[in-house]
Amino acid sequence: TEHIDKVKHEEDPLASGGPKPMDVSTTPHEIFSADVTVLEGHSSEVFACAWSPAGSLLASGSGDSTARIWTIPDGPCGSIQSSPASGHVLKHFKGRTNEKSKDVTTLDWNGEGTLLATGSYDGQARIWSRDGELKQTLFKHKGPIFSLKWNRKGDFLLSGSVDKTAIVWDTKTWECKQQFEFHSAPTLDVDWRNNNSFATCSTDNMIYVCKIGDPRPVKTFSGHQSEVNAIKWDPTGSLLASCSDDWTAKIWSVKQDKCVYDFKEHTKVCQIIVILA
Ligand SMILES: *[C@@H]1O[C@H](CO)[C@@H](O)[C@H](O)[C@H]1NC(C)=O
Repeated sequence: TEHIDKVKHEEDPLASGGPKPMDVSTTPHEIFSADVTVLEGHSSEVFACAWSPAGSLLASGSGDSTARIWTIPDGPCGSIQSSPASGHVLKHFKGRTNEKSKDVTTLDWNGEGTLLATGSYDGQARIWSRDGELKQTLFKHKGPIFSLKWNRKGDFLLSGSVDKTAIVWDTKTWECKQQFEFHSAPTLDVDWRNNNSFATCSTDNMIYVCKIGDPRPVKTFSGHQSEVNAIKWDPTGSLLASCSDDWTAKIWSVKQDKCVYDFKEHTKVCQIIVILA
């Protein structure tokens, strides 16, 4: 391990001037295959997964035209094969399809963990009970849905689509509350700022902050040089992080037009962003 540690230290730019690395005198942390639970059943790429806030359930969405809700037992347990006991199969199409339109691209649980929303390449959003029963199908988008999120309160569901728009759905009536048509190209990600305001980002390089009831963006963040892949608000809703095909991640403040931080260390497109509360 001494050899491995040495190589790591030499490659780590933080190791010289930055904070001291953690104690590495013991064996590097290894994860043994016996400690990994593998969920088997999907027959194509898996695009998305999400834990139920109520615990022990994991939802996954795949190119095989299904989402699955898995019951995860406590502790490591090797492989879980898809079966009625291990969870539910949420079929998005009856019979066989071989088209791309069957992909389940995104999914999100409501705050109570009672309902799962799935977004699909066919442009429809679907609402399922935790038992895998289809409750609603939401049609209005004219292109694939890439992002779908409940607000904290659970009264609105937000979807972003390749049709360039974002839609807020009223979860009492399941009607379209408002459609936002600000982007000039596909909407790639959406994220709630609070219960009635959110941001959207697009392949048009732009980020808009939108508010329910407002016909125009309440804020525009412009500065990325290429497609903006993902966005995430900090828990207080004052800072927004974004990442892009321009190889940067940026942080924006609602009080400012220009980004407040610009991270240019990436040497490839930036695809995913996580904020630690
Ligand atoms: C959103 O609504 C929930 C439930 O009513 C509330 O607990 C929460 O504080 C609200 N969030 C914001 C940012 O207002």
